[in-house]
Order: sequence, then C-alpha cells, then structure tokens
Amino acid sequence: MKWAVLVGGTGSNLRAILESGIKVHLVISHRADVPALRIAQTYGVPSRALLPRDFVDRAAYDAAIANSLEDFGVEAVALAGFLRWLTSPLIDRYRGALVNLHPSLLPAYPGLHAIERAFRDRVWWSGVTIHFVDEGHDSGPIIAQRPVPRFMNDTVEEFSERMHLAEHQLYPRVIQEVDRGRVTLVDGRVCYNEEESPWMHGHL
Ligand code: GAR
Repeated sequence: MKWAVLVGGTGSNLRAILESGIKVHLVISHRADVPALRIAQTYGVPSRALLPRDFVDRAAYDAAIANSLEDFGVEAVALAGFLRWLTSPLIDRYRGALVNLHPSLLPAYPGLHAIERAFRDRVWWSGVTIHFVDEGHDSGPIIAQRPVPRFMNDTVEEFSERMHLAEHQLYPRVIQEVDRGRVTLVDGRVCYNEEESPWMHGHL
C-alpha cells in the first residue's frame, strides 16, 4: 500500500514509522515549519504544509488534502500528531485504511493534552491506542492498545517519555499489519488474522 502520514508537530512517530521501513509516499502537515516536516525532508519523503487558515472552511481544507493524496496515489493514511478533525468525505474515501494514534487508553481521555490530563489525575495506568478513524472524535474502532504505567515519583516528562516510547513501538507494527491486510475493518468492526496477529490483542 502507498502510505501518507499526516502530522502537525514533533514528528517522533513519523520518524519511528520511517525507521521501521514502511514506505511513506507523502507527508502532510497542518502547521508550517514543524520538526515533522524536516524529518520528512531528511528521509527524502515529499512533504506539504497545508494550513487551515488558507482555506474557507473544513470541507475546502479536507478537499485539498484529498487532492494531495490523490496526486501521490496514496492508498492508506496514518495520522501522527495531526490534531484536526477530518470531515466525512475524506474519512469515507479512506475508511478502513485510515488510522490514528492517541496517547491514552481510549475511550478515556479523548482530545488534546491526554498525557498531561492523565498525569494530573494521578492515574496509575494509561497507555496508547491505535484505531481506525470514523466521524467521531478519537472514537473509531480500536485496533490495538498498550498499557503504560505511571510510577510513583514520575515527573510529567518521564511519564510522557514512557508513553511516547510505547507509541513508537506499537504504531509502526500496527501500520505494517494493516498494510499486509492482516487487520481490516468489516462492517464497522476490526477483524484480525488471528494466527498472525495475536500480539494485537495486547497479550504478547
Ligand atoms: C502523539 O503523542 C500522538 O499520540 C498525539 O500527538 C502526538 C504526536 O507526537 N496524537 C493525538 O493526541 C491525537 N488525538 P509526534 O509529533 O512526536 O509524533
């Protein structure tokens, strides 16, 4: 599959995806001058910054994203720090081949600053979730989750670092599974090739 990664910030997950050998054909950022764009350049991946303020509304913005994806023949899309809600036509176009990473055990802590909010609540366990994108907010069918502990004397930085490490390990593996057709979306439910993807369920 030809993958695109949509970013907006640090790009640490983009880097993990690229390091894992997944062939990324296009990187789109919703912010200009972010480290994620520089990472794309370093790895020789075509990149574009599409800024929401240059478009009249969300539909026009998403149409521009769809056009870029089309230009590069993109077949599957991974969101990695792309902090904008997508509209239905774009979601529909890539349904089942559009995945998002979120730094919490969804449905807990959807939305922004999930790591900091969990830390402030002094939860002992949080984690990361990868899900197919649907029209809701951080709500689509869950593919994989990995729990991450908060230790007694953690600073928020230490806790964040542990969370990001889990993201970097899990996200590329899940993308590879989607890429190989071992995990699919059927009638709104996630289907696994049980023999090949037991780790998906978090038991390995
Ligand atoms: C990641 O922690 C990802 O889980 C989060 O943005 C960060 C991007 O980091 N995404 C969301 O909160 C989506 N709702 P990165 O730019 O270093 O990959």
